[in-house]
Amino acid sequence: MNASNHVRIVEVGPRDGLQNEKAMLAAAVKIELIDRLSATGLATIEATSFVSPKWVPQLADAAEVFLGIRKAPGVVYPVLVPNLQGYERAREVGATEVAVFTAASEAFNRKNINASIDESIERFVPVMERARADGVAVRGYVSTVLGCPYQGEVAVADVVRVARRLHELGCHEISLGDTIGVGTPAKARDMLRAVASEVPMSALAVHFHDTYGQALANILSCLEEGVRVVDSAVSGTGGCPYAKGATGNVASEDVVYMLHGMGMTTGVDLDRLVETGAWLAGQLGKDTASRVTRARTAV
Ligand code: HMG
Ligand code: MG
Repeated sequence: MNASNHVRIVEVGPRDGLQNEKAMLAAAVKIELIDRLSATGLATIEATSFVSPKWVPQLADAAEVFLGIRKAPGVVYPVLVPNLQGYERAREVGATEVAVFTAASEAFNRKNINASIDESIERFVPVMERARADGVAVRGYVSTVLGCPYQGEVAVADVVRVARRLHELGCHEISLGDTIGVGTPAKARDMLRAVASEVPMSALAVHFHDTYGQALANILSCLEEGVRVVDSAVSGTGGCPYAKGATGNVASEDVVYMLHGMGMTTGVDLDRLVETGAWLAGQLGKDTASRVTRARTAV
């Protein structure tokens, strides 16, 4: 059991959140979003994604956004890269932390990045080599850890194998993604426990989408297991455009509220986060998915 009371929130709203929103926000609005998030006390804000703009047009402005944000001291701004081309684009604008991503399901990986799991990992090898030489930290994502929209059930052994491989390759942190939000607490706990038998818990993060309303319960069961890094998106935006039926990430406001209520620390100012979430919902022209923001801003 992890005795630490501190949880690091990895805010993925500007990337995972905005990649799947119908509304196309202007780069200036995305920059304002990240600057606002930087003022909430968050230590890690995933800023954007250097993937193919044909595949994800919402983030075609990645370079402009990354260059435009104010880099607050003590905050890291990782970006997604699917291959060496993405890595080079990220480095051109000065990214110091990147994230590579693959899945535990072959069917999903094919749809999402047009590659098998093994092919995707082969693409990461030169990225990891370059990153090591450049002193760039690399996070690794494993998607579909609790179910796949195309293949259905995903074997825990497959999650363990892919997570271990990413860790062996040199990823400093592995984020375990319930891409379509179908997990439930006991399954989430068992999956995490199995991965933690091969990869140190201190190198693991959890990433829940909230399709079935299970995300907070899943996070709680993973905290009890010892994880201390949690991904979430302000206002509960987003999802993966190549995961049929996936809805938003768990809302950061709701995660922070729960953690503070449990006596845990995050370093995040909940009031500022709620303000940012309400502001973002206004920009997107839709209701926030955060229950906390709804409760706090109700008239
Ligand atoms: P492909 O079509 O197989 O790639 O796509 P390719 O290597 O054959 O290249 C095709 C074209 O794309 C070429 O351009 C390349 O230059 C260009 P053309 O000659 O046709 O003009 N290209 C690029 N352009 C800019 N940046 C790049 C890049 N790479 C190639 N980096 C590829 C393969 C991986 C590129 C594509 O499938 C892709 O970009 N996929 C990304 C999909 C995505 O972003 N999904 C969402 C993120 S994952 C997620 O949300 C899950 C997560 O949140 C965790 C969870 O919830 O589980 C992380
Ligand atoms: Mg995601």
